[in-house]
Amino acid sequence: MMSSTEAGRYWEENAEAWTQLSRRGYDVCRDLFNTPAFMRILPDVNGLRGLDIGCGDGHNTRLVAARGAKMTAFDIAPTFIRYAVEAERRQPLAIGYLHAGAHYLPFAARQFDFVVAFMSLMDMPEQEQVVAEIHRILKPDAFFQFSISHPFTDHPYRQWISDETGKRVAMAVRDYFDNRQYIDEWTFGAAPKELKTRYKPFKTPYFTKTLSQWLNMLIEAGFILERFEEPCADENTARDHPEVADSRIAPFFLIVRCRKTTI
Ligand SMILES: C[S@@+](CC[C@H](N)C(=O)[O-])C[C@H]1O[C@@H](n2cnc3c(N)ncnc32)[C@H](O)[C@@H]1O
Repeated sequence: MMSSTEAGRYWEENAEAWTQLSRRGYDVCRDLFNTPAFMRILPDVNGLRGLDIGCGDGHNTRLVAARGAKMTAFDIAPTFIRYAVEAERRQPLAIGYLHAGAHYLPFAARQFDFVVAFMSLMDMPEQEQVVAEIHRILKPDAFFQFSISHPFTDHPYRQWISDETGKRVAMAVRDYFDNRQYIDEWTFGAAPKELKTRYKPFKTPYFTKTLSQWLNMLIEAGFILERFEEPCADENTARDHPEVADSRIAPFFLIVRCRKTTI
């Protein structure tokens, strides 16, 4: 299996373009429905000590910090951390950023009241080790909330099916049960052609698991499952932003919240 260091190198290659394009508003799924759904179900974090894993340029970390949480955040790609630190300097929210990998967290046990990970866990090999680390650094009764690409549709063998007008109407998936490691090459579809050609496409490593493997992994690590969401654009958003209308056909994302038991 690819090492996390190697996977991290892909992310460092993506970081400049990802930051530029997402800051211009082209990460439309994140902005229009995925992060809003995550924030809707996030428990009250005011005054709590939280950790954001795979924070990218810190966009979502800042949203959590704005709710009163004392945030630490880290990413494996140094360019993301540089942009996050610059944003913190411009608009201080007392977020501490680190360059680190999720497989060995540089924190003592039972330090954090909660951990969040927005769309980063599926990009990491050996997720069992990452989840064990998260469990270790959480206080008893603390929660872990994360979003991932939906295990059912995030797969190398999937295909959109369109009608005679070219409109997407369904998605076909095969080999769902095979655990795959693959590199996807893509960019934010909403970005204009001029920017798509200015930046190289992202190359993102994925490490797939079935839905039951994801959930059983959390249970085996000692978490109690608490809440799930499969966010999609609501009807009004889909009408006003046709670029996300296909999120209503099949699930793109899964959000899970679980809690460390008190013992
Ligand atoms: C899809 S991006 C999401 C970024 C950000 N959380 C957001 O929602 O905008 C995935 C992030 O996970 C980071 N990442 C991947 N593997 C990692 C690892 N082993 N440790 C820490 N961060 C990692 C990448 O560098 C990237 O910033």
